Amino acid sequence: MSLKVAIVGMGGIGNAHAGCYVNDPLSEIVAVCDIIKERADAAAEKYGCPAFYNVKSMLKSGIKIDCASMCTAGTENGGDHYKPTMELLNARIPTLGEKPISNEVSKAKRMVALAKKKRVRYAIDLNHRFTPAARLAREWVDKGRLGRLHIINMTMWINNANETSPHFHIRALHPHSLDVMRYFCGDVASVQAFFLRGKTMDGKQRKCWSNLQMNLLFKNGVVGHLTGSYDAGGSFGLERCEVTGSKGRFVLEEACEDLTFYDRANTQRESYHHLGGMTNFGETFASRIHTWLEQNKTKAAPSKIDGSGADALKVQTIIEAAIESWEKKKVIDL
Ligand SMILES: NC(=O)c1ccc[n+]([C@@H]2O[C@H](COP(=O)([O-])OP(=O)(O)OC[C@H]3O[C@@H](n4cnc5c(N)ncnc54)[C@H](O)[C@@H]3O)[C@@H](O)[C@H]2O)c1
Repeated sequence: MSLKVAIVGMGGIGNAHAGCYVNDPLSEIVAVCDIIKERADAAAEKYGCPAFYNVKSMLKSGIKIDCASMCTAGTENGGDHYKPTMELLNARIPTLGEKPISNEVSKAKRMVALAKKKRVRYAIDLNHRFTPAARLAREWVDKGRLGRLHIINMTMWINNANETSPHFHIRALHPHSLDVMRYFCGDVASVQAFFLRGKTMDGKQRKCWSNLQMNLLFKNGVVGHLTGSYDAGGSFGLERCEVTGSKGRFVLEEACEDLTFYDRANTQRESYHHLGGMTNFGETFASRIHTWLEQNKTKAAPSKIDGSGADALKVQTIIEAAIESWEKKKVIDL
């Protein structure tokens, strides 16, 4: 039996989730919800289900919902998540939220705490870790192929001219990069960051801190670095992650496109291109959502959720520490 899914927030990303649910044999869409009536109605027509204009009325309707996607946006792309997420979690509906979990750590903490109290599965769409290439690289780490981990270097950048808040860049984009870094190297102990306001291609000074360089010390001693920018071009690519250890190194490019292992003891390389048939970042939504559906189907314990609300809270905490480090000009211990 397929899982009955509701989707809240029918913008571009809510519709991207919907496309994944339509194509996944584990799910069927039973409700869509948006405070903009036209968006909800258009989605209802497209996916053949009822439309709702707020979460409360959707919950009151009595429609059976096994799990939900929560795809609102708001300030720094996370300001609207809190209220509808709390309503879904309060109703004990397993919820897959969009990133950032929230642009405010205090609200992120409350959502994670409520999910824990209600013993309900709560995940965030930290989709960059859900690729066959990232999974294989993590297997190498877990099996000791890299030996003792030493260094992680991550770059993530796109072209985004949004100037709505000074720290939009780090809060909206870097939940992804920091989640990938945590995925390979674990929890972070200390953070130090520098920011720079870039210029547009036609020479205008940006208001947003659109470039960053961050140093991270992980709890296991690994030393890491993150380069981030909203002033990149399409030709720059999206991301690159490099991890070195006492026995070897891997480089993972574009989340899923190219993975190479470099043996420290010889010049041998092992390379994978489009591992598992995944060819581009867009496909990460379907793989992330499939894992979410599988974890609901098998009734995974909330504490075992891959890419959980708790994971997302941890990356948001690192982000706020980086901002504090820049403002106070010091290293921040988490
Ligand atoms: N995981 C990824 O790779 C990825 C990529 C891009 C964007 N995102 C995230 O996806 C989210 C959505 O982005 P988008 O571009 O689709 O935004 P959007 O603004 O186009 O859509 C959000 C929709 O939510 C609706 N909404 C707001 N409050 C609501 C509420 N209380 N109840 C019901 N509907 C409500 C809005 O009316 C709007 O239609 C953002 O958090 C963004 O950061 C994730």
